[in-house]
Amino acid sequence: MASSISKFLFFSSLLFISSSNAQSSFRPHALVIPVSKDSSTLQYVTSINQRTPLVPLQLVVDLGGQFLWVDCEQNYVSSSYRPARCRSAQCSLARASGCGNCFSAPKPGCNNNTCGVLPDNTVTRTASSDELAEDAVSVQSTDGSNPGRSVSVSKFLFSCAPTSLLEGLASGAKGMAGLGRTRIALPSQFASAFSFHRKFAICLSSSTTADGVIFLGDGPYGLLPNVDASQLLIYTPLILNPVSTASAYSQGEPSAEYFIGVKSIQINEKAVPFNTSLLSINSEGVGGTKISTVNPYTVMETSIYSAFTKAFISAAASMNITRVAAVAPFSVCFSSKNVYSTRGGVAVPTIGLVLQNNSVVWRIFGANSMVFVNGDVLCLGFVDGGANPRTSIVIGGYQLEDNLLQFDLAASRLGFSSSLLFSQTICSNFNFTSN
Ligand SMILES: *[C@@H]1O[C@H](CO)[C@@H](O)[C@H](O)[C@H]1NC(C)=O
Ligand SMILES: *[C@@H]1O[C@H](CO)[C@@H](O)[C@H](O)[C@H]1NC(C)=O
Ligand SMILES: *[C@@H]1O[C@H](CO)[C@@H](O)[C@H](O)[C@H]1NC(C)=O
Ligand SMILES: *[C@@H]1O[C@H](CO)[C@@H](O)[C@H](O)[C@H]1NC(C)=O
Ligand SMILES: *[C@@H]1O[C@H](CO)[C@@H](O)[C@H](O)[C@H]1NC(C)=O
Repeated sequence: MASSISKFLFFSSLLFISSSNAQSSFRPHALVIPVSKDSSTLQYVTSINQRTPLVPLQLVVDLGGQFLWVDCEQNYVSSSYRPARCRSAQCSLARASGCGNCFSAPKPGCNNNTCGVLPDNTVTRTASSDELAEDAVSVQSTDGSNPGRSVSVSKFLFSCAPTSLLEGLASGAKGMAGLGRTRIALPSQFASAFSFHRKFAICLSSSTTADGVIFLGDGPYGLLPNVDASQLLIYTPLILNPVSTASAYSQGEPSAEYFIGVKSIQINEKAVPFNTSLLSINSEGVGGTKISTVNPYTVMETSIYSAFTKAFISAAASMNITRVAAVAPFSVCFSSKNVYSTRGGVAVPTIGLVLQNNSVVWRIFGANSMVFVNGDVLCLGFVDGGANPRTSIVIGGYQLEDNLLQFDLAASRLGFSSSLLFSQTICSNFNFTSN
């Protein structure tokens, strides 16, 4: 009797294994995760499930981040946690160096014979040195219009971090989701787990109450009412910065961030005069233009910022828009009197980032350039980055909202839609209702 029971258990567990294999052999062509905007920090926060049993984790989205890192010091319970052993394939994929030991009781984040990486809080620019590990991760697949069934990756590489590294992140966040150009950032790991294109797209909502979306994989990228935003893209090459821009890194490591080749800036189609050599990246990795979800507003090197604001103020004056006292963190503000609304937001001078040639221009209209600080005052949502910053222009979150940006890692190019408002949709229009 006992033996037949154990045989039964044996067979039923076999059945269970084969059905779970069948489930994991479902090959999604893309995945979808929601992104909310935190009203107090202005950070973009996503949610993915990790561990066994699965736990939903709030993570700050770091477009140029190197990998997923999470707090392992508190409440990390999982039967599927595995540290990455020294000299393993995982360690070399992560370019992880060294071989570490931990002199306290073994637990997630503290194991012997493991390789280490440098998780980076890019908000506070603080890094730590921690254990590389893998654990199960689960996210929803998509057909491009709705979320479909959940799919999991049983051995998803990430870094542990101490609780103290969470400082400065949105309340409730347990780490950061790095979408950068490394082999172990989220887009590349999911693409290799499911053999789909090494492409992903971000669509950040301008609202703190309605979620935007990140698509991992290729389009269609469907937004209500029936817009495939992947059809709206204009392309420009992504540029590799040969020197890491992380808070801590080993020599010879390139930057994981996404740089683009802005050649000049226009206000109402007229070039703003400034020293454009600041727009190229030199051999020390200084200069150039990058895109960041960690900066809430675009930051410009001082001489660029002053030329840019001067040109904007004079173009606004010719539209009878009156300047008023500045409201921090902005230095250029206007009265909302005489400013009327259009489909692309308030009618103000149009900003153009000229890319590889004069016909490839990322245009920024009122909805992405002006911030209402109260009903009477609106400010130019760009800030002064001081003299000698590492990167001359950092295109920040506010300028990305309600724009679709697709990063194609294999082709090293960026697709950008400009404002979706002109296509009568917004980033919170992905239909998160399951079919
Ligand atoms: C690592 O090895 C050392 C020396 O053998 C031992 O004292 C320590 O407890 C071990 N740590 C863990 C986390 O297993
Ligand atoms: C322009 O900027 C570059 C890099 O900062 C500097 O070397 C050069 O002297 C500047 N040129 C002018 C005309 O100011
Ligand atoms: C600006 O105001 C002046 C004087 O009120 C008026 O003549 C002019 O047409 C206005 N210009 C625009 C662009 O509205
Ligand atoms: C500008 O660049 C785009 C894309 O690289 C190319 O298709 C187009 O022909 C170029 N236009 C001009 C005027 O050079
Ligand atoms: C969202 O998708 C669900 C499931 O397919 C569908 O029933 C619903 O009508 C969609 N909502 C809109 C506004 O189209």
